[in-house]
Amino acid sequence: MPTVQEIQRASASDEPLTMLTAYDAPTARIVDAAGIDVILVGDSMGNAVLGYDSTLPVTVEEMASHTGAVARATETALVVADMPFLSYGTSERDGIENAGRLVKESGANAIKLESGPHTLDLTERLVELGIPVMAHLGLTPQRLNQMGYTRQGTTEAAADEILDLARRHEEAGAFSLVLEHVPDDVAAEVTDDLDIPVIGIGAGPDTDGQVLVLTDVIGLSQSVPPFAEQFGDVREEIEEAVEAYRRAVENGSFPENSG
Ligand code: KIV
Repeated sequence: MPTVQEIQRASASDEPLTMLTAYDAPTARIVDAAGIDVILVGDSMGNAVLGYDSTLPVTVEEMASHTGAVARATETALVVADMPFLSYGTSERDGIENAGRLVKESGANAIKLESGPHTLDLTERLVELGIPVMAHLGLTPQRLNQMGYTRQGTTEAAADEILDLARRHEEAGAFSLVLEHVPDDVAAEVTDDLDIPVIGIGAGPDTDGQVLVLTDVIGLSQSVPPFAEQFGDVREEIEEAVEAYRRAVENGSFPENSG
């Protein structure tokens, strides 16, 4: 596994960093073998694989279980686990215990916090304790009831606030920053300003890296955000395989008589 410093060094090279989500062992194995730099066990698994209609219901237990599956199947990528809604921010102790669980019990190399002024102290404390923190600004889906899924940083004041919070999280010790659904020029300015790698999603081409949700990429999501890109159609493959199995059982061609 790389250290977060190795990820930072890799981002200083010409090639953009690659990050993709995974939520289970078989897909983590595929993503890892493809040479993706960072695997994010995102709380997007609420929508992507757990059947919830947002990330809000995802629990620490669910994150711990799925992070464990991903970490056990990953050999070379850095594994980052998302801290789910209200698993931090309620008290410093809760935040440390829950982050510690994802690292100690599940094997994550780092955690991600949807960030704001309330995560500055926790970021500093976790880093002090040896838990690397990835910050996340712009659209933060755990604030769905306050901001919806709309593009952030669209006014000068909002863009300045994102830049200010990005700087302060870098100072607090975050090793990288996810910037979601902000105008390209805002993402470019933040990326230019920060020394830590900025990984964009719906933030244009000028960040140090890109992240997408795996089920969007492989064509298995029920609904996709406007900035997602589909690179394959796994749904069709699964449909064909399931249909072929059903037909074979119904017409008696499977299983063959084994004697
Ligand atoms: O939960 C997630 O998958 C994320 C990415 C979209 C960055 O936070």
